[in-house]
Amino acid sequence: MSDSFDNIKACVFDAYGTLFDVHSAVGRYRERVGDDAERLSNIWRDKQLSYTWLRSLMGRHADFWEVTGEALDYAMSSCRIDDPALRDDLLNAYLSLDAYPEVPAVLAALRNAGQRLAILSNGSPAMLEAAVQSSGIGDLLEEVLSVESVGIYKPDPRVYALASERLGVTAGEIAFQSSNAWDVAGASSAGLKVAWINRFGQVPETLPFRPHAELRDLGGLPALLQRNS
Ligand code: 2OP
Repeated sequence: MSDSFDNIKACVFDAYGTLFDVHSAVGRYRERVGDDAERLSNIWRDKQLSYTWLRSLMGRHADFWEVTGEALDYAMSSCRIDDPALRDDLLNAYLSLDAYPEVPAVLAALRNAGQRLAILSNGSPAMLEAAVQSSGIGDLLEEVLSVESVGIYKPDPRVYALASERLGVTAGEIAFQSSNAWDVAGASSAGLKVAWINRFGQVPETLPFRPHAELRDLGGLPALLQRNS
């Protein structure tokens, strides 16, 4: 399966859920949120994603900051939490989400091995810039690509094409990493070589657009790419 990763010329990462832990936002304010902290975080993330798909289908794009705020409002209302100060703190936490522990060392190892590295994300440029700077990985990345350049969300194929265009490589020369199974399907359908970072031990999607490799976290990526270089 991993033989697909030969002739890779750029390594492109999804941001939220793959490099950055979206649940670290609620994690920081667990005591203020109370017993529903995990439920709130899960509803927030689910709604954030479904609002991107709905807006794309409706032709009503708004950037990820706005969508993330709208999803948070839904999640807080579902959990019967009315606390505007907490709402602001939770949303602002998106600007400095925790990176998963292995991320800095893996990106550094890939760079040392000569890989070109980029992010391709739903995030708005300002959100991505803040999260990248706060996690200290900015110097390792050649490009931080936002869907705002095409005005529609993943998994629209124009988003994945943006990576090829900006990096000057073909879709098949990109190794794309995402923990989001639906994003994996979207990238695979668009012709990228995809490693599913299955952080949450999920079963595979039954869509016919499969990952080319599956890893538990990003730790195995340098070896996967080296084996096939
Ligand atoms: C991202 O584009 C899908 O949230 C994910 O960063």
